[in-house]
Amino acid sequence: MYVLGIIGSPRPKGNSHYLLSVFMEEMKIKGYSTKILDAAKLKINNCIGCGNCETKGECVFKDDFTSIVLPEIIKADSIVISSPVYFYAFPAALKSLIDRIQVLWSRKYRLKTNDFKTRERKGILFAVGASKGKDLFQGLKLTTKYFFDAADIKFETKLCYTGIDEKGKIQEHPTVNKDIKELASLF
Ligand SMILES: Cc1cc2nc3c(=O)[nH]c(=O)nc-3n(C[C@H](O)[C@H](O)[C@H](O)COP(=O)(O)O)c2cc1C
Repeated sequence: MYVLGIIGSPRPKGNSHYLLSVFMEEMKIKGYSTKILDAAKLKINNCIGCGNCETKGECVFKDDFTSIVLPEIIKADSIVISSPVYFYAFPAALKSLIDRIQVLWSRKYRLKTNDFKTRERKGILFAVGASKGKDLFQGLKLTTKYFFDAADIKFETKLCYTGIDEKGKIQEHPTVNKDIKELASLF
């Protein structure tokens, strides 16, 4: 099994990095192959809505999305997104990456290529945010739902933590390590 992590936070070694690294360690213990892509470090053009992918199934841009991200997303058996909330949405670099998933949406819904027909793929969302409102993660959950749908990934589950702001704060959370280990045991 190949597990791909995508980190949305531009803050080095921040709270969402911690969530993803604990989960990935568990995956390694199980003997799975893992890789982490850092959205903020990749050179990804913003989707320009040109429609090329809708007719040709390919993006006009040749950048890190085309050469690194897309092949990894196609190869992965499980995908884990880990991100902070930025203004009730994903940070810009990760949102830019997700917008480029339009190429998979086009292949699935316009060109009907059935690329993942024989494969069962799973996806998870880890998220953190500083405030505590009940709608804090609504934006991230919806965007993840439609990202995973375009890539034929089953949205397995999510772990979202409110009240987490300062760097490293998540490590003080009383159940976080247990939560992640329990989740990892299902994989
Ligand atoms: C640009 C920016 C926007 C943010 N927007 C929100 C927000 O809308 N709601 C919220 O609760 N926290 C918000 N936060 C706080 C982060 O979600 C919080 O600090 C989180 O723990 C950062 O995670 P990280 O360490 O993985 O980067 C924002 C932080 C930044 C820098």
